[in-house]
Amino acid sequence: MSDIATAPQGPEFVEKIVPGRFEGKTAIVTGAGSGIGKAVAIRIAREGGRVVAADWSADRLEELKSEHPDLAFVTVNGDISQEADVTRIVVAAGLVVDCLANVAGIMDEFQPIHEVTDAIWEKVFAVNVTGMMRMSRAVIGLMVAAGKGTVVNVASEAGIRGSAAGTAYTASKHAVVGMTLSSSVMYAPLGIRVNAVAPGGTKTNIVANFSSQMGAERLGPLMQVVLPPAAEAAELAAAITFLLSDDSPNITGVVLPSDGGWSAI
Ligand SMILES: NC(=O)c1ccc[n+]([C@@H]2O[C@H](COP(=O)([O-])OP(=O)(O)OC[C@H]3O[C@@H](n4cnc5c(N)ncnc54)[C@H](O)[C@@H]3O)[C@@H](O)[C@H]2O)c1
Repeated sequence: MSDIATAPQGPEFVEKIVPGRFEGKTAIVTGAGSGIGKAVAIRIAREGGRVVAADWSADRLEELKSEHPDLAFVTVNGDISQEADVTRIVVAAGLVVDCLANVAGIMDEFQPIHEVTDAIWEKVFAVNVTGMMRMSRAVIGLMVAAGKGTVVNVASEAGIRGSAAGTAYTASKHAVVGMTLSSSVMYAPLGIRVNAVAPGGTKTNIVANFSSQMGAERLGPLMQVVLPPAAEAAELAAAITFLLSDDSPNITGVVLPSDGGWSAI
């Protein structure tokens, strides 16, 4: 029997802009061309922030700009797993960064470990782990010099449980949680807060193919039983911008699920 009917079904989410919340701040948002990253970029810009929107899809960045001519985005077309591209993103920010939203990420194909190919493992880790490390290394270095800053890393339900994806994605998102906790401890005395948001199912363009029969047979039924309805990307942006903003001054080292209660089941 499915528990979907018992998942929270609140009123439709209406984004409430907090005017000026990011006034005077520069925020880098990775994965800003689509889904959760796009929603974060738009929200910060609407709340007065200067947004450096990075994505490896030039078309999506063009779309972001043309859909929102009223908002001034600095767009950078680049791959966060490449050091030279990370440098371009940080330079575009003007080497002063108040907020970093590490949102860009890719899925695996739901393989258990004995079916994982080197190609999938390396691709998923290059983006989800190495890319996030490279962005954080470059930006937190600047934040240390400035003595302030906030970072939000997008993890996943797969960062806190074993049944939400294949081995590669699950391991990569557990690494995101580890990076978040380690960094929160290291930088708390320097005025830099580092948190994570762990989304459950969210309506975006993320590609998730069940290429593994074993993965589909084992995880499919488990996910059907406990998976609450998919959220809107703007609902995730609400949690992410809260943790990036001055509304969460005493919060660091938190992995906040935004998943309709999935992680509580
Ligand atoms: N959608 C979900 O159900 C869900 C659930 C849990 C976690 N997440 C996480 O949320 C984050 C955002 O995903 P989404 O669902 O919005 O997906 P999405 O595919 O809609 O958006 C991700 C964006 O990141 C960009 N991107 C990917 N790799 C990149 C790279 N190496 N360099 C620069 N840009 C890159 C893509 O071009 C895309 O525009 C990811 O980290 C994902 O793992 C998503």
